[in-house]
Amino acid sequence: KDINLDPLPVKIGIIGGSGLDDPDILENRKATEIDTPYGAPSDALIEGEIAGVKCVLLARHGRKHNIMPSNVNYRANIWAMRQVGCTHLIVSTACGSLREEIRPGDLVMPNDFIDRTTKRSQTFFDGGGQSPQGVCHLSMYPSFSERVREVLIATAKELDYNVHEKATIVTIEGPRFSSRSESNMFRQWGGDLINMTTCPEVVLAKEAGLLYGSVAIATDYDCWRMGCEGVNVQDVLKTFGENVIKVKNILVKAVQNIAKQDWSEDILNAKVINLLYSYDFIF
Ligand code: ADE
Repeated sequence: KDINLDPLPVKIGIIGGSGLDDPDILENRKATEIDTPYGAPSDALIEGEIAGVKCVLLARHGRKHNIMPSNVNYRANIWAMRQVGCTHLIVSTACGSLREEIRPGDLVMPNDFIDRTTKRSQTFFDGGGQSPQGVCHLSMYPSFSERVREVLIATAKELDYNVHEKATIVTIEGPRFSSRSESNMFRQWGGDLINMTTCPEVVLAKEAGLLYGSVAIATDYDCWRMGCEGVNVQDVLKTFGENVIKVKNILVKAVQNIAKQDWSEDILNAKVINLLYSYDFIF
């Protein structure tokens, strides 16, 4: 019998951050309520299509935007995306900038992180009765899918948007913003951006074998910059609102660009090889 050498089909999950959870980007949409071994995701999953490509949309903070970063059930969100068959996850996030050259309104495609969260579950392998068996020590290099990041960068360029191609993102627990000393320390550590949600989302996506890329939009200079007032929520929302259309355009076009490529090897690698090297199996 002939072996099927067709590329594996893709299904793309989109996690919309603050202000980017607009279901209108999907055609033929249908809301699905999902439960997972880790509880309920932030909201219903909206399944649909973008230019014929299967997609699933989830509002990270709920469609009413009432879940603060520490209370987002990241495990349920990622598990639910996996449960409905996603191969890729592309997400948006509003961030503070820790670099002069990353100006508010700029787009950035991060490639690394520093985790300063304190209250969040970081693994599906937690020893619980409904969880997968074993212990998982997963490498965080690379933490984001390099190929997905490349597609996001190419897509931004295709749309004539200025984009910073690499960044280390510091995720703080929040909900408070950082002190000036913390902000300066993060700069010295090599942080370029700061937010409250990339960790543990990127970690769990990798554990779940999903190819994860993020489009960050810089909304403020946090509070390290001399002569500037520190970050406040009004400014973050204003700058995000003014630029959210760019993120939306990138996500919609990136879905189509992803679907043009063959991801079979990456999908299998993410699902199997990574995990084989990481699991400390209990038989
Ligand atoms: N999200 C947007 N701006 C931020 C900042 N300065 N710190 C943490 N999260 C943010």
